[in-house]
Amino acid sequence: MEPIAYVNGAFVPLSEAKVSILDRGFLFADGIYEVAAVLDGKLIDNASHLARLERSVGEISLALPDSIDRIQEIQKELVKRNNLVNGMVYLEVTRGADSGRDFAFPKGVKPTLIMFTSVKDIVNAPSAKTGIGVITVPDIRWARRDIKSVALLAQVLAKQAAAEANAGEAWMVEDGKVTEGGSSSCFILTQDDVIVTRQNGSEILPGCTRKAVVKLAEERQLRIEERAFSVEEALAAKEAFITSATVFVQAVVSIDGKKVGNGKPGPMTDRLREIYVDFARATAV
Ligand code: PDD
Repeated sequence: MEPIAYVNGAFVPLSEAKVSILDRGFLFADGIYEVAAVLDGKLIDNASHLARLERSVGEISLALPDSIDRIQEIQKELVKRNNLVNGMVYLEVTRGADSGRDFAFPKGVKPTLIMFTSVKDIVNAPSAKTGIGVITVPDIRWARRDIKSVALLAQVLAKQAAAEANAGEAWMVEDGKVTEGGSSSCFILTQDDVIVTRQNGSEILPGCTRKAVVKLAEERQLRIEERAFSVEEALAAKEAFITSATVFVQAVVSIDGKKVGNGKPGPMTDRLREIYVDFARATAV
């Protein structure tokens, strides 16, 4: 069966899902996106993703074409129509298609809303057992990384460099400190068992998985510090890991070809992964 996508009010076969070449998402990357995981046919931590969607569109003065409740209904309907068991729902809202290419906001143009799904068994992904290697790259992005904008060229280049180096992710570095992964939040576990992840701010995306992991760790009285760390500190750490909707909690076993810890996923990472998967299942909608 051909996958079903959603485009501006209609559920259509993926091959028929089209937007205008004048769409501002296409011309200016004038749009916002979200990716929510699906486990056993249910959306994971979706309220958090939709809250961030609302915040992101607010930051660029873009009105959503539908209510948040309706958007969640559409996500669920799309999961159902695709018989999706495990994977994710991608959604994107742009400032719509104008009649030309004026930079300033158009008047009276309806935003574009599209969604599609993809299949991935996140819980049983092979890399969850082996961990991944990462490379480091300079963070060349704009100054409002807290907005989940579709302008991802810097991440495309970073993740391509990672792919060429047979690494699973690129860690972006600015002023000697790790900001975040190309599409993930970064964590380390220090030698004295403190979990460290960069504090939120305009330098990084406020990851939904990051937020949940921090809360879950705090609830278990694990020591956690929200501050920036360097690549050197990460290499001297016991463990390192990344979080995102598409990997949950994923061990990082090497950075630029140098081992982190013993070069295998560590017990804290495994434990946090398990805790997160339990949380995900228990709160799925
Ligand atoms: N990316 N940082 C960046 C730059 C990201 O693109 C992402 C997610 C995250 C993690 O956020 P969350 O835990 O809310 O997924 C951090 C998505 C998955 C993507 O672009 O595919």
